[in-house]
Amino acid sequence: MKRIGILTSGGDCQGLNAAIRGVAKALYFRFKDDVEIYGIIDGYRGLIEGNYKRMKPADFSGILTLGGTILGTSRQPFKLMRVIDENSVDKVKNMKENYKSMKLDCLVILGGNGTHKTANLLREEGLNVVTLPKTIDNDVWGTDMTFGFNSAVDIATNVLDCIHTTATSHGRVFIVEIMGHKAGWMTLSAGIAGGADVILIPEIPYSIDAVTKTIRQRTKDGKHFSILAVAEGVLSQEEAKLSKKEFKTARAAMAFPSISYRLAQEIGDQTGQEIRVTVPGHFQRGGSPCPYDRLLATRFGAAAANLIAEKNYGNMVALQNDRIVPVPLGEVAGKLKLVPPDCDIVRTAKDIGISFGE
Ligand code: F6P
Repeated sequence: MKRIGILTSGGDCQGLNAAIRGVAKALYFRFKDDVEIYGIIDGYRGLIEGNYKRMKPADFSGILTLGGTILGTSRQPFKLMRVIDENSVDKVKNMKENYKSMKLDCLVILGGNGTHKTANLLREEGLNVVTLPKTIDNDVWGTDMTFGFNSAVDIATNVLDCIHTTATSHGRVFIVEIMGHKAGWMTLSAGIAGGADVILIPEIPYSIDAVTKTIRQRTKDGKHFSILAVAEGVLSQEEAKLSKKEFKTARAAMAFPSISYRLAQEIGDQTGQEIRVTVPGHFQRGGSPCPYDRLLATRFGAAAANLIAEKNYGNMVALQNDRIVPVPLGEVAGKLKLVPPDCDIVRTAKDIGISFGE
């Protein structure tokens, strides 16, 4: 009898349930009655606290199109994993003990960057783990694509489409702030797909003068509105020169709810134009996964079951050149996949005249 645990950790995204279903369906198809699946509740927290339940095949039915995660999730910072908390809880010890008491053969972990650091820690501690890369940010190293990304880009693009109609009516400058943490993948993709005039991403620090120059030029050219797709993690060229600590202090002192509002103030002051800010926020992580994500999540899920059957543990399933391959967790953990400033997609944007505020 195989006993497999499964958990989802970190911020949710579209396609988590599709991936859970993919893992389960492939395991049941391969092992029939010879497999038991245990759902661990709320991510690593459930593993630490021993909160889990035996799942039945019916639990995985009807969830392909469902947003969120049927298992629940939570953020458990990696840097605190080895820190004994105020209730004297040794998290790593607890996770190992609960894994043992569940008598698991393998733990399947669905998560993004932080999750992968902890998954690698558990591997180093001797647990059998297989992981699936999920996040709307698409910033997990070792995979061309994470599930969740394309669904979130659809939503962000839709926001830009809707803003477009209002922008044409009112002749204002619109800033749309797009999620993505420290990576600009979402903003870059949605920005091009949604016809933004300016795209600002963390990987290409901006100059406010260059941004306003583009807006003024558009006005001179008879365009009476401008749309900016701005990544939540952007920073100015001056901020890029600061140390990590100096940057944190400067941002903590910033008198705006987010970077887009600071940009709005600066652009308004320099151009005299009317500015509006739209922050779709967690809207971008919600709702049903798009067909691309359902397919990718299912491919990852089935591939994870194959790795379990082969006892090929300690890997993340990844998409590379449209093939699903295992990538050792030791290689993935601690690395970020950021937008290379000279990549093909950035070049395409520049070729059609989109400004990056350089
Ligand atoms: O990693 C996914 C993500 O949505 C990022 O794009 C964003 O910066 C962050 O999570 C928001 O985190 P939380 O849901 O914890 O506010």
